Amino acid sequence: MKLTDEEKAMLDGAEGPAVAAAMDLLVRYGEALDCERLCDTRNVAGTMTQPSPAKAKLVAEHGWDKAYAVINLDSDEEFEVPQMKVPTCQLQHGFSDDSVGVAPYPKQYVELQADAESFYGRKGVNILATCTPYQVGNLPVRGEHVAWMESSAVVYANSVLGARTNCEGGASTGAASLTGKIPCWGNHHEENRRGTHLIDVRVPVKSFLDWGMLGYFAGDLVQEERPVVVGDFAQPELVDLKHFGAAAASSGGVEMYHIPGVTPEAPTVEAAFGSAKLPEAVHYGQREREQIYENLNSQGSNTDVDFVLLGCPHASVDQIWRAARALEGRKLKAQLWIMVPRALKVVADRSGYTEIIEKAGGKVLSDSCPAMSRSAPPGTKVFATDSAKQAHYLPAILGIEAWFGTLEDCVNAAVTGRWTGELR
Ligand code: F3S
Repeated sequence: MKLTDEEKAMLDGAEGPAVAAAMDLLVRYGEALDCERLCDTRNVAGTMTQPSPAKAKLVAEHGWDKAYAVINLDSDEEFEVPQMKVPTCQLQHGFSDDSVGVAPYPKQYVELQADAESFYGRKGVNILATCTPYQVGNLPVRGEHVAWMESSAVVYANSVLGARTNCEGGASTGAASLTGKIPCWGNHHEENRRGTHLIDVRVPVKSFLDWGMLGYFAGDLVQEERPVVVGDFAQPELVDLKHFGAAAASSGGVEMYHIPGVTPEAPTVEAAFGSAKLPEAVHYGQREREQIYENLNSQGSNTDVDFVLLGCPHASVDQIWRAARALEGRKLKAQLWIMVPRALKVVADRSGYTEIIEKAGGKVLSDSCPAMSRSAPPGTKVFATDSAKQAHYLPAILGIEAWFGTLEDCVNAAVTGRWTGELR
């Protein structure tokens, strides 16, 4: 790997032992990838505060500096963690103290995370605590090299914002935050961002549900490659693209897609494919739409619903407002949680949306989600969601049944305790 003089100096310890360990990790990571160089980044989104048994043990025995060295820098050395060199934010993590009595999440983890927040906050980590940092102020610009974790955030950053990131891990983001460097491979290069598959949509796609199902179809089709989507759809909103990308990153490993005329690197379908010949289109029509709906509901058999989950990826203010309107004046039989970024919970509180949701019996929760914290209301056997990602993952994580449908289907299930959703 070719290092600049500045990078060599960091590796040799000019900025202290923690930065040297970080640079050593990046060089090992880059060489394993056959990557020739590092690129500069001033935007890191990682996960430092997320509790785990290994972290709890390390912190109890050796403190936070050692935990960062071992977990985020893959180093056995002893050193003090310096201030983050470049802007760094914490993505989603575990539930916090305001979920006590609501989410069955170990108190010991709530405390560990609170401790972590104060340690990392003092080091310059912005505790955004959401899988949607782009909803709360972390908005990289087109062409900017960033180092992000979290598949749904990565696909949004690459595709919708035109920023450039691979799906990084806890160690590479830990090293990037202390150096401002990340291996320059994969999605950082223009030629790896072009479309590989063409999807021709032949059925109207105009709702949040439909964008999630189309994303689920696209991910299943292309796996880790890059779909280009054309055809019969209305102008998508932020929440539609948030759902589309999260779904495509769940059924496949999509990190980048193009929608000509919508996403920034695809003014036309030809531009989305660069100089390559357009591939034959795969159609997404009524039959495929029905098949995807069936797939996403294949893990539901009992129509008695105990729990409804909204807000995956974390809800926008508009989604919280829509949920509040659907719940206004109603009383819930099943538990209902809506997951939101903490910064937007403040907006929901001030706007009166939280009060409406809570009066109905629902909860507005921040920082985490049932999948991330492996936690749902006690006794949950069957849940319903409007998120293709949660319908995909939660049955395996918690061993529960899943129903997938619209916000209205989910709210009706929460009110009646029964699933009656169907594809319309
Ligand atoms: Fe976010 Fe949890 Fe969904 S972290 S993307 S709400 S699985």
